[in-house]
Amino acid sequence: MILTPESVQRIKDKLAQYPQRKSAVLPALTVAYRQVGHLNDDVYREISQVIGVPTLEIAEAATFYTMFPKQPVGKYLIQVCHNISCSLMGADSLVAYLEDKLGIKKGDTTPDGLFTLICVECLGSCATAPMMQINHDYYENLTPEKVDAILQQLRSEA
Ligand code: FES
Repeated sequence: MILTPESVQRIKDKLAQYPQRKSAVLPALTVAYRQVGHLNDDVYREISQVIGVPTLEIAEAATFYTMFPKQPVGKYLIQVCHNISCSLMGADSLVAYLEDKLGIKKGDTTPDGLFTLICVECLGSCATAPMMQINHDYYENLTPEKVDAILQQLRSEA
């Protein structure tokens, strides 16, 4: 089993909140992602056993949402929005800056396993572009100085 008993219980609690089992798919995926750090076929199968929805339907939902990584990622998953508002406000420069500071390319993980850098679609914070999400937190109105401070803070917490 990949899911801990605590995660299984959380998923069962979510399931109890909905009149239809399928409604618990996204909450269950979220619980699993927060525990495991990424999703894969084994996780889908275990969720299927808990909520009684076919594994294929769970996998379909998971693959639709880019916020669920499908392979192991670094301790800090940096998701830079590159949709229209963020692009207009310098998302490309932000990505290039992060690539330079981290010594990796978009899609890669630093050799120490600390950071994974990816680009994602709109995160719903267009008014604070350019922005990025790191794990579950938003970082907005980004500048190179802010990025430096954020990376330094995360490295100090690692
Ligand atoms: S375009 Fe970046 S948050 Fe919406």
